[in-house]
Amino acid sequence: MAQLIGHQIDDSKNVQSLIQSLVQEVAQINSQIVGVQPAHPEHIDLGKSEIDRAGKARGRPLAYPYVGSGGGRGAYVELEDGSIKLDLINGIGIHLMGHSHPRVMAATVKGALSDIVNQGNLQPNREYSRFIETLSQLAGKRSRLKYAWLATCGTMANENALKLSRQKHSPARMVLSFKNAFAGRSTMMAELTDNPAYKVGLPEYHEMLRIPFYDKRDPQSSEKTLRGMKEHVAKHEGNISVFSFEPMLGEGGYQAAPREFFLPLLDLCKEKKIAIWADEVQTFARTGELFAFETLDIGNYIDICTIAKTAQVGATIYTEEYNPQPGLIAGTFSGATPALTAGLEILKMISEDGYLGPQGRVMQIHRQFIGMLNELGSTTCKGKVTDPGGMGLMIAFTPYEGKKEQVDALLKRMFQNGIVAFSCGKDPVRVRFLVPAVIEDKDIQVARTIIEKSILEGT
Ligand SMILES: Cc1ncc(COP(=O)(O)O)c(C=O)c1O
Repeated sequence: MAQLIGHQIDDSKNVQSLIQSLVQEVAQINSQIVGVQPAHPEHIDLGKSEIDRAGKARGRPLAYPYVGSGGGRGAYVELEDGSIKLDLINGIGIHLMGHSHPRVMAATVKGALSDIVNQGNLQPNREYSRFIETLSQLAGKRSRLKYAWLATCGTMANENALKLSRQKHSPARMVLSFKNAFAGRSTMMAELTDNPAYKVGLPEYHEMLRIPFYDKRDPQSSEKTLRGMKEHVAKHEGNISVFSFEPMLGEGGYQAAPREFFLPLLDLCKEKKIAIWADEVQTFARTGELFAFETLDIGNYIDICTIAKTAQVGATIYTEEYNPQPGLIAGTFSGATPALTAGLEILKMISEDGYLGPQGRVMQIHRQFIGMLNELGSTTCKGKVTDPGGMGLMIAFTPYEGKKEQVDALLKRMFQNGIVAFSCGKDPVRVRFLVPAVIEDKDIQVARTIIEKSILEGT
């Protein structure tokens, strides 16, 4: 039987070897990137003009003087001014495998050779099914999750999750979530998000019920949260469609909670027929297992789970009972072909190459990074680097007194000295890292030197 033309492109030895040659050539050029470097005098003007252009075109300056050149290697990235930074935020979680990973790049190029750039829900190519099939199989290993639907970002994956839960529990409309939650930037996800600064001028829809997240400083914390949930449930019996939660507060401050904190909340939701939706847009692939619901061993409870970032596309994963009626979720785009091929490769790498499990690379990095921060906090930066914590590759610490101005200024110094990081939380404001899974031990020492220098410069 004659082979399909599309399959011939995939299977062609010539195409495969050309892709490998391209990737090797690019790796050869990127091999000049070996560590942090200041801006290059010859490129400073170019760097400034690129930053100005971006700011002017969007009507607001960039948060950092950062425009990437397209060169990068592992945990390091080159900017248009010729500087090389240690990237410990990775596009707020997109580049789990760092910059220019040869396998990610090869998969991306392969996707780019398809007949179409973007796939759609009406006319998908087979990368569509390969991706959602693999994702739902991986998700279903330790949960009842069975199907996946693609979306263009975390926000859209979340919108779909909310629709699924509301349809299933119609006409219930209220949503339970944690204080300081973050869920995305659409109108409804801004409502789910508990940060007034992100919805200035927007009307309120009064569909949210809040309970406090775990507070490790308060021995009554779990009880208080459960009591809060019980009160909401009593007041709104039958009118709560879903409990939406981040397994670890992300934007809200990188605070983790133990399994025992979640269990009574999830039991109550099950008893009251409230859908349980884990928003893993940020935690996915970062907490030591593929899903944080596995790390916390709460997979049996999960009805819906959303992911994005690391996966390169968004997805809503759900159980048989939450499979929606036709017409509820769709949309033109279901992901760019290179994003689907790269996302699938990343899924394979993270689940097959020794990253997961208590002794996997993710947890090794976690222990080393936290150890490094603890060491700074007990020696040269005593009292100025406190409360290092988080889960897996999501790590934060509180600098100084955790005031916004202090953290903003520290992040600027860190950037100047060679680390890209970001903040999270409100009280205290913390410095957060989304550490790439490809960081090497020696890079953690580079991070140590820069964090120490930047902290001490501020005192
Ligand atoms: C927990 C969580 N949910 C949803 C989102 C929104 O995802 P996106 O920015 O891809 O729309 C984010 C993004 O940071 C997130 O951290």
